[in-house]
Amino acid sequence: MLLALAPMVDLTHAAFRELVASYGGCNLFFTEMVNVRYLKQTPPQRDPYLKCAISDRPLWVQLVGKELEDFKIAVKKLNALEYIEGYNLNLGCVKGKIQRFGWGASLLQYPEQVKAIIGAIKENTEKPVSVKMRIPRGEELFFYLLEIFEEAEIEFIVIHPRTPDQGFKGKADWSWIKKAKAHCRLPIIGNGDLFSPQEADRRLKETGCDGLMFGRAALIRPWILRDTHRYLREGSMPPPPPPAQAVLKMAELIKIYLPQQWWEKRMDNFLRWFLQNFSVGLYIFKKIQKLSFEEKVKQAVEEIKELPLRQYPASPFF
Ligand SMILES: Cc1cc2nc3c(=O)[nH]c(=O)nc-3n(C[C@H](O)[C@H](O)[C@H](O)COP(=O)(O)O)c2cc1C
Repeated sequence: MLLALAPMVDLTHAAFRELVASYGGCNLFFTEMVNVRYLKQTPPQRDPYLKCAISDRPLWVQLVGKELEDFKIAVKKLNALEYIEGYNLNLGCVKGKIQRFGWGASLLQYPEQVKAIIGAIKENTEKPVSVKMRIPRGEELFFYLLEIFEEAEIEFIVIHPRTPDQGFKGKADWSWIKKAKAHCRLPIIGNGDLFSPQEADRRLKETGCDGLMFGRAALIRPWILRDTHRYLREGSMPPPPPPAQAVLKMAELIKIYLPQQWWEKRMDNFLRWFLQNFSVGLYIFKKIQKLSFEEKVKQAVEEIKELPLRQYPASPFF
């Protein structure tokens, strides 16, 4: 079964992907979204956003932007990175700035532009292309986009079944994934509100989708893909790994893979999510947030080593 780690800005960098890979169960990784305009200016070989770790494979780069020329130049440059499996087009981001520029989910309203962007990427690479989308306004537009993807022969479609207006409100509506499976012959990866292996199993059975992608739950419980993999195969889960070890491992990986000026902020981002494994997690986070990198790691380990993990579902507090 295809189990993917979702791209998440400032969170799913090389160090975190390596942490997830170390537990097993994940067989599809994405970089956090990379702006094609920014890529025009920097050599990809030295870009920390494009760095890979050892076990985070296959790794796809996620691209965000709008202008065909930017995509062409970016892809030509990125082709030099042989560890990149393929290119994923972001049609789902709803962040203010991204929307204002007409990128991400805004592009769903412009299917011809989406088609042209996919064409521009394909013309400039031998590598496969995929998309990650939200649900556009109206079923007709949804099916039209699926047709475009089929005609372009892309590799797979990731669907987060919320509309752009929804942000993260309400529930992901997996009936769209079932509809996509019925209308489209491309592999469909379902994403949205998968907070436990049991929920993943249910969604898989309900929709017949070809893969599952985990976002926020993997930030809280980086071994949820391992647990899901095992649950789908055997109907049971292994015991959880020691959480304090995950914190120590993350700190080590951050120091190996990320530039020093990123260490503090990326450790904070990790802890803000990971500590939600404990009912008092956000309280602990606030208490240690101001400490230095090393002190914070030490204190986090100290605080959690005797605490019980929350049961699944690993749903976020906010
Ligand atoms: C902090 C954060 C950052 C995100 N960054 C990206 C991104 O860079 N690219 C993208 O396609 N989606 C991004 N997303 C959306 C996730 O990939 C995913 O589609 C969404 O969180 C729903 O899945 P979940 O319910 O499993 O979290 C982000 C989500 C979060 C919470």
